Amino acid sequence: MESITLNSGARMPQLGIGVYQVRSADCGPALASAFAAGYRSVDTANAYLNERAVGEAIRNSGLPREDVFLTSKLWPPNYPYEKAVAAIDGTLRRLATDYVDLLLLHQQYGDYNGAWRAMEEAVEAGKVRALGVSNFDERRFTDLTDHASIVPAVNQVECHPYHQQRELKEFLRSFGTVLEAWYPLGHADRRLLTEPLFAELARKHGKSPVQVILRWHIQEGNIAIPRSTNPSHIAANIDIFDFVLAPEEVASIGALDKGKPFFQMPDLLGRILLPAARINFDKRQR
Ligand SMILES: NC(=O)c1ccc[n+]([C@@H]2O[C@H](COP(=O)([O-])OP(=O)(O)OC[C@H]3O[C@@H](n4cnc5c(N)ncnc54)[C@H](OP(=O)(O)O)[C@@H]3O)[C@@H](O)[C@H]2O)c1
Repeated sequence: MESITLNSGARMPQLGIGVYQVRSADCGPALASAFAAGYRSVDTANAYLNERAVGEAIRNSGLPREDVFLTSKLWPPNYPYEKAVAAIDGTLRRLATDYVDLLLLHQQYGDYNGAWRAMEEAVEAGKVRALGVSNFDERRFTDLTDHASIVPAVNQVECHPYHQQRELKEFLRSFGTVLEAWYPLGHADRRLLTEPLFAELARKHGKSPVQVILRWHIQEGNIAIPRSTNPSHIAANIDIFDFVLAPEEVASIGALDKGKPFFQMPDLLGRILLPAARINFDKRQR
């Protein structure tokens, strides 16, 4: 497994498994398959309502805690400083762990600078090893770093061959911040997965189109966290470290960029709705 050294000094596997929209009952079997296949990185969030199940799956794996890179994310209503202090403890309690490897601000709305201060204190206290953001545009990222002592290690954003995020990536590079790709498979969009180019490259390399896409992420220097609850998909998605796309093949995938995301949060909606959307994460595990 390839890994990337974050600006915190920590090493993060370049491929992990995401559990967005995975019900708690399905987390155990999916993560058991993932750990058996060699995954050592899991991406969850307060808002996924499955942190308890993720924590349980990690404990049930029998793997030493330090062998698993665990990411979670705070939700905007919990950003004001005092709330973020409590939300970090809530995250650790639900995951039943002493620390998370990476804690992200899930969205760029609400008092993200207040939350960041609480997150920096959590790093000091040993509750969190590295900090990052998700869905931050250049303006909010700059505002955050203007107020912060710790520079985000990652910005987790939508990224796949139809939305390659080249400009944002270049911007992040100047901060030593790595792009982490959500929707690495375009949320299984049929048009993306059936692109003739991936079928052609898959044939050439004896791999599947999905494996070609994930290999592209690795060679682009992205961290990718594809989601699957299907054991054969889970195993196939990590079986991408025994082939290499040639530079001209990477370039041909580069030409597929449409510069348009599948999912876009309208800014006004995000600013108004998200900070107000209170959820009791302890009660609402699903
Ligand atoms: N920060 C954010 O705002 C944010 C937003 C969205 C997602 N995320 C993170 O990113 C992760 C990935 O995003 P996502 O889950 O929405 O999309 P994704 O990983 O791009 O796509 C997931 C879909 O691909 C299918 N799939 C996976 N492997 C496959 C394979 N080998 N062959 C065919 N189909 C395959 C899955 O179905 P099967 O289960 O049937 O395999 C599932 O329907 C999330 O789980 C979450 O951790 C973060």
